[in-house]
Amino acid sequence: MWDQVQETVSYIKGKINFIPEFGVILGSGLGGFSEEIAIDYLLPYDEIPNFPVSTVQGHKGALVFGTIGSKKVVAMQGRFHYYEGYSMQEVTFPVRVMKYLGIEKLIVSNASGGVNPNYKVGSIMIIKDHINFMPEHPLRGNNDERFGPRFVNMSQPYSVEMIREAKVIAKELNIEIHEGVYLGLQGPTFETLAEYRMVKILGADCVGMSTVPEVIVARHMELETFGISIITDMGNEESISTISHNEVLEAAKSAEPNLRMLIKELIVRS
Ligand code: HPA
Repeated sequence: MWDQVQETVSYIKGKINFIPEFGVILGSGLGGFSEEIAIDYLLPYDEIPNFPVSTVQGHKGALVFGTIGSKKVVAMQGRFHYYEGYSMQEVTFPVRVMKYLGIEKLIVSNASGGVNPNYKVGSIMIIKDHINFMPEHPLRGNNDERFGPRFVNMSQPYSVEMIREAKVIAKELNIEIHEGVYLGLQGPTFETLAEYRMVKILGADCVGMSTVPEVIVARHMELETFGISIITDMGNEESISTISHNEVLEAAKSAEPNLRMLIKELIVRS
């Protein structure tokens, strides 16, 4: 894995002269964030050695390099999900590559189903913590100490400083935000009513099919990490019958302008 990551990093560094400070992973329907980036380079995933290729509708599949204000960023336009059939090592491979391209901070976004009754479709939730309910762990197997330690401290997976800053920004921009716990399940089915109920009982505010493995690997390498979720559907009796991928994409699109402004400001001020 180390050699593969370094090979990919060398390839990218050979193609472009750019050292990003921020990594951004754009979730379902959030790909438009790249419009905030003054793009210097765009590398489609299928041209990058060792990269998996994205398969889901609504994900474009490219690494976008450029600036937001004076900050250098690399954005993943489209991510890799466990349910697509990739191993957890494949799902998280780009995070390792971004680390060795130079990023110090990672911002992760996603779409999720809300189980907190105070949320509604279109709500924005800062992820303050997560519950790993995925069936496989990205750090399972031999640990390469060059990446990080065998046993990773997960007391603060999401940066307290970045959360504080994001809340200040949201207030200034008059964007309503929540702070909550994200629970990761493998998908690709949306949850049954009983499963949404379980998610709530377990102490989470929303549920999704991504983010958790990426954040674990980011923390393995001591990246400062910020996560944010758009509630695209509600996991309750009234709403469950209409949940579909199209509804998720539509709801993500409606919340996107606010999320975009928030992430942009967070990057500019960090
Ligand atoms: N469940 C799981 N993943 C999701 C959901 C959901 O309700 N909405 C968007 N991603």
